[in-house]
Amino acid sequence: MDSQTNSKKQGEGHPIEKIQISNISKILLVSSGKGGVGKSTVAAGLAVSLALEGYSVGLLDADIFGPSVPTLFHLTDDVCPEVEEVDGKHMMIPFERCGIKIMSIGFFFDEKQPVIWRGPMVSNALKQLLTQTSWGKLDYLIIDTPPGTGDVMITLLQQFEVWGAVVVTTPQLVALADVQKTISMLQDKNIGTNVLGVVENMSWFSPTKHPDEKYYLFGKGGGQQLSQVFNIPLLTHIPLNEKLGVNCDEGNINDIFSENNIKEAFDTLIFALTNK
Ligand SMILES: Nc1ncnc2c1ncn2[C@@H]1O[C@H](COP(=O)(O)OP(=O)(O)OP(=O)(O)O)[C@@H](O)[C@H]1O
Ligand SMILES: [Mg+2]
Repeated sequence: MDSQTNSKKQGEGHPIEKIQISNISKILLVSSGKGGVGKSTVAAGLAVSLALEGYSVGLLDADIFGPSVPTLFHLTDDVCPEVEEVDGKHMMIPFERCGIKIMSIGFFFDEKQPVIWRGPMVSNALKQLLTQTSWGKLDYLIIDTPPGTGDVMITLLQQFEVWGAVVVTTPQLVALADVQKTISMLQDKNIGTNVLGVVENMSWFSPTKHPDEKYYLFGKGGGQQLSQVFNIPLLTHIPLNEKLGVNCDEGNINDIFSENNIKEAFDTLIFALTNK
């Protein structure tokens, strides 16, 4: 086992073996209990922002049943990663976009083909994507996780040394109950990790012609409320921005930073994270 080492973490009387991928300094999960709140957008935006700051960054799309990283980076046209031998092992070569090394289960399936797998297969696929990708040396590996507290989250937290997690929510209360379950899992004393903070997405809308006006379309204060209940920082607010949605759908994630309010939101986020 040359690209990974095992370390032990003490659970309640039972040591848990965790895999540490030796060339990766920090594994950071982007998670949420809820679907559609912007996890993939935040994960990809965070990866691009960190790469622009000069960090070496990888992005793993761990949303086995609904991968969206290939779309965000325009990597949907029949591409499948090549395999090469590295130190006697067969390793998958990640794609590179915007200076980021990218791997996704979506590269191995037709977009329209559903993945019908039970838990152990999901867990195995995830482990292979993590440990059999030739990441090289990374400062950060950002992992875009599926909604909820299912097999992917359990595998990541139980089996890998994860540096920390950010939790994405939208401001409305309905998102919060689900998000709270995820935070409780992330704070679990046996398998949990460092919950670095909350990212509130789609916080408000400002018309282009009136950038100082804010319309709170989905309510107000959800991120702040979560931060207080769980005693974790509120890292940033990302506004609802029409161009962001279009850029993401068209695979031009790097263009989202031409919108000032989006750039500011991500600058605030990476400032908070890189100073942890
Ligand atoms: N701040 C924003 N402004 C405008 N559109 C946004 C914003 N954040 C996300 N979106 C759009 O909302 C949709 C859902 O975002 P995204 O796919 O990132 O959510 P998700 O939490 O990863 O969803 P899933 O649970 O399905 O994986 C996408 O079409 C995305 O472009
Ligand atoms: Mg997603």
